[in-house]
Amino acid sequence: MFIEWNDDLTVGIEAIDDEHKVLILEFGKLYKLMREGHGHEYFDELLEFLETYINTYIEREEALQREIDYDGYLEHKELHDQFRNNVKRIILQHHGKEVTNEDLLSINTFLRKWLIDHILIEDMKIGEFIKVNGIVLKPEVDLEAELKAELEAQSEIEPEPEPEPEPEPEPESEPEPEPEPEPEPEPEPEPEPEPEPEVEPEEEPEEEEPDPEPQPF
Ligand SMILES: [Fe+2]
Repeated sequence: MFIEWNDDLTVGIEAIDDEHKVLILEFGKLYKLMREGHGHEYFDELLEFLETYINTYIEREEALQREIDYDGYLEHKELHDQFRNNVKRIILQHHGKEVTNEDLLSINTFLRKWLIDHILIEDMKIGEFIKVNGIVLKPEVDLEAELKAELEAQSEIEPEPEPEPEPEPEPESEPEPEPEPEPEPEPEPEPEPEPEPEVEPEEEPEEEEPDPEPQPF
């Protein structure tokens, strides 16, 4: 028998509906893989899921029942305990062993029975109890975040460091201006030549009278 999630299966409590959805999903996967001849390969993964299921989902459902003072809590917890013990026994029996067809048929029957007898009957009673008593549930708490915050507060784990902001790129430096060329020194003015002293013109000698031309001899 193949079971798929539909609204008729809702209990009306998000935490419990989520628990049922995930279990129905895993059961459907087992059913499909068995029909395709790959159930053996999935068996170990299914056992891992069931271990998480009994340690997380069922624990959460019981916490909710205590929170709302569910009047059928003790009887319900007894059914949970039986399921827990059966899962633990199956895990121990199959540790390191080869998976047989009988193992697959057996676990398929075990899960189908749990879905029909417990989820469709016993867990539905919790939803009815909430409706009849007009209980308003608190918004679901993020358990993982709550646990992490608690551990951080106890300094058991270091909070993840915030990423350092990337350094802003330095502005490209403007090229330094080339030094202005020093002004060439103005050429010193050449000294004006000292005026030559005025020389008084020599008195021209009085023209001597030329010698008389020699006389030919
Ligand atoms: Fe339950």
